[in-house]
Amino acid sequence: MVDTPAALVAVMLALFSIVLLSSAMNSVEDFTDASNLRRKSPEAGLCAQFIEPSGFPCSEHKTQTKDGFILGIQRVSSNSGNFRRQRGPPVLLIHGLFVAGDAWFLNTPNQSLGFILANRGFDVWVGNVRGTRWSQSHVSLSEKDREFWDWSWQELALYDLGEMIRYVYSVTNSRLFIIGHSQGTIISLAAFTQPDIVEMVGAAALLCPITYMKHITARLPLRLVKMHLDQVMLEMGIHQLNFKSDWGTSIMDMMCNGHVDCDDLLTSFTGKNCCFNSSRIDFYLEYEPHPSSAKNLNHLFQMIREGTFAMYDYGMWKNMKHYGQLKPPKFDLSQIPSTLPLWMGYGGNDAFADITDLQHALKELQAKPDLLYLENYGHIDFLLSTRSREDVYDRMLAFFNSLGTFIKEEDKPERGVIFWETTDFDKCEEVFDLTRSIA
Ligand SMILES: *[C@@H]1O[C@H](CO)[C@@H](O)[C@H](O)[C@H]1NC(C)=O
Ligand SMILES: *[C@@H]1O[C@H](CO)[C@@H](O)[C@H](O)[C@H]1NC(C)=O
Repeated sequence: MVDTPAALVAVMLALFSIVLLSSAMNSVEDFTDASNLRRKSPEAGLCAQFIEPSGFPCSEHKTQTKDGFILGIQRVSSNSGNFRRQRGPPVLLIHGLFVAGDAWFLNTPNQSLGFILANRGFDVWVGNVRGTRWSQSHVSLSEKDREFWDWSWQELALYDLGEMIRYVYSVTNSRLFIIGHSQGTIISLAAFTQPDIVEMVGAAALLCPITYMKHITARLPLRLVKMHLDQVMLEMGIHQLNFKSDWGTSIMDMMCNGHVDCDDLLTSFTGKNCCFNSSRIDFYLEYEPHPSSAKNLNHLFQMIREGTFAMYDYGMWKNMKHYGQLKPPKFDLSQIPSTLPLWMGYGGNDAFADITDLQHALKELQAKPDLLYLENYGHIDFLLSTRSREDVYDRMLAFFNSLGTFIKEEDKPERGVIFWETTDFDKCEEVFDLTRSIA
């Protein structure tokens, strides 16, 4: 059905991401009053383009990884003025592949996790990994350099996520909560195996958790894995995967205006999503997809081929050079401390985060995560379902609340704020800085 390498490259855009066009999508709809405000100059950051127009206070932060990438991080607070002085526990959001921090804000404030958390009084920090449009600079390299794209999710875990956690920890002086989706869960779990990173984490909630990828059922990606598309691209000298480049845009148009039914394509890639709002696709596509690297795709495909949760495989001899052993070292899930509270949400129609693979991971973890299983949910639903608040986020928040006692606004009208309080002082102090939250 698809017969040129270029078209195959285009097909990749849907992997783990939200990106699908429908051929009928030629007309642009007016989504919200704020939509005109959002179309600012490309230099404007995520806060100015996206979050402030919805009325939420937002500040831009930058931090630098060990290997020189400059990452953009946004801090978002509630749009109700009462929260300015008091902040709840910090929570860092880690997005998936081919999306970025904006992915947590794509639906209405009542539907999007980023806004919901801010409105519940959390101190929300929005992560953006290297290569995405909010984190696209480096101390010495330019995105035109091949070396700029010489990384996989291994670096995203050990350098980017490690650095973002360290940054938020040092600014807030508090352990933080992590919420990840899809590739964001791969890098979270890999990072949590590192003692110097996990000691700064208070708890984590993982949407569509992925470690092993032996049993993914997504038809099209499996076909591309079999065709070794990842290796073909690297051999062709393609290092950056950017579907917003000129060639990427043409290919997407070609794909979705003729040859392939894009609604079916989304299903073939991610599994059937129960609650995807397809009338918002044009709006989603203003922001997605974000670039990633061909080496990252190669690493993900290695996981599918080899069934391992391990570092990047350079091949035997180069592995000797990089790791001092013939095979890449594994990320050992049993190293994640049993004391780390974990929550996981997974779906019966998720073609990526397969249940057999998840069970494999659960056997290796020392901790017993709280699990939420939604039979009709697909991979994208956990991020963009129009009902995700009731179906998923309320339950996730109940998990975070169970780590302390959550006092709702209506219970404490004299204070007029949502804040955290606990009777188990030691436990609370461990999870977040109580004095800052309640002072
Ligand atoms: C789907 O998106 C459209 C366009 O933004 C919006 O008007 C509608 O309310 C959304 N539907 C749901 C169920 O959220
Ligand atoms: C958002 O949700 C709250 C609480 O569930 C509700 O009171 C409010 O009317 C909703 N707002 C919109 C615009 O749907």
